[in-house]
Amino acid sequence: MSGPKKKLYLQTFGCQMNVADSEQIAQLLSSEYELTTRPEEADLYIINTCAIRRKSEEKVRSLLGRLKGLKRRHPEMILGVGGCVAQQEGEKLLAQAPHLDLVFGTHGLARLPELVRQAAWRPQVDVAFSEGLASGVRSWKPGAAQAYITIMQGCDNYCTYCVVPYVRGPERSRPPAEVVAEVQDFLAAGGKEVTLLGQNVNSYGRGLKESITFPQLLKQLGRLPGLARLRFATSHPKDLSDELIDLFGKLAPLCEHLHLPVQSGSDRILAAMNRGYTRDQYLELVGKLRRICPDLCLSTDLIVGFPGESEADFEATLSLVKEVGFSQSYCFKFSPRPRTRAAELPEQLPEEVKRVRLNRLLTLQNRLTREANQRLVGQVQEVLVEGTSKKDVTQLSGRLRTNQVVNFSGPPELVGQLVWVELTEAHPHSLKGRWVAEAAA
Ligand code: SAH
Ligand code: SF4
Ligand code: F3S
Repeated sequence: MSGPKKKLYLQTFGCQMNVADSEQIAQLLSSEYELTTRPEEADLYIINTCAIRRKSEEKVRSLLGRLKGLKRRHPEMILGVGGCVAQQEGEKLLAQAPHLDLVFGTHGLARLPELVRQAAWRPQVDVAFSEGLASGVRSWKPGAAQAYITIMQGCDNYCTYCVVPYVRGPERSRPPAEVVAEVQDFLAAGGKEVTLLGQNVNSYGRGLKESITFPQLLKQLGRLPGLARLRFATSHPKDLSDELIDLFGKLAPLCEHLHLPVQSGSDRILAAMNRGYTRDQYLELVGKLRRICPDLCLSTDLIVGFPGESEADFEATLSLVKEVGFSQSYCFKFSPRPRTRAAELPEQLPEEVKRVRLNRLLTLQNRLTREANQRLVGQVQEVLVEGTSKKDVTQLSGRLRTNQVVNFSGPPELVGQLVWVELTEAHPHSLKGRWVAEAAA
């Protein structure tokens, strides 16, 4: 296209999958639109939304309310909502926010350029589920050191609290050849670290015509020259196979970090959540992982205040957290979501109980995180430098293989490089370090 490009303002909420989707959205529209950081000059304003908790949805609704003024001042601007709230609400969003021009779901990315063109004439809604996964579109910037690559979408697990199976649809995997080719492209462009994404990566491969398991995919990728670090999220404990556990410590690029959401330490609550494992089964997995890979750092997701959760159930969660010693936890108050079974359960807990339990859990986890960080002080470790501080470009930030954030000073040219850093100070959620050398690889 000739002439200056139009401007796209893209605002992203939610998980890494949404971040990856937004990168694809920018790519898909790049022949006509370039990104801007200033909403008031946008010709197209897209909000990529999350529906996981009520708060996530409320954020979108209040943002939409605030955007009425902008749309009034720039009536020719196309305002679009995509992602999980769009998928959940569909047409209803248009009725609730008449200044909207476009609603597109989690499967509509490939159709987006055409939808945007149509939306200039009349409001468009596209929340149909499609068969395959949008492919051939990068979800990373060439030249970046780090990429999130979606290998599967959707979920068939139906945990009773969770909206994801409804907003992302049934599980579908991308063919392995396509994943390998994308990782190769990324490495050829100078990339170093890949995080494979899916709601439930452990069941990767089901339904594909090729016969392949997730550990087999990891092995294929682990052999690619130039790949320094390999991560994945999220894995479900009920599908964590011995074959996968064995790869930790064996497959060189596979980082010594695993995010393994446990949700609760009480068997009664785990059953009510439909998680498909018990506390003991979870602890057994942790034991196996630590025997295979003693340096492994485990992080997790936890929900407090699930309907019917007693003080004893909650204390079982606290004791499990202590027993495992997670390096990091993402802790949430239970939030009833549309269409989910848990939203209909009788014994919903008062907000105040949830709030107090969340605070108790956070206090414990903060102590564990700080202690884990403290144990690293004095060590020299490899850091992949991800960026500079906004205020001072000589303040660099990166992550260890075990996923802790490290801040240190050094020249901005180190961004994208693997370097050796001596860890000097532990902070509640990060470490401070001193740059000692560039890494060989
Ligand atoms: N697919 C991932 C998690 C997706 S959602 C997995 O199965 O592990 C991320 C986290 O949000 C979940 O692990 C859970 O802890 C939390 N979550 C999901 N639904 C929730 C709800 N209704 N209320 C509170 N937290 C919720
Ligand atoms: Fe939601 Fe459970 Fe599926 Fe994770 S495994 S996305 S928590 S239904
Ligand atoms: Fe949110 Fe959708 Fe991700 S609901 S957590 S953005 S899959």
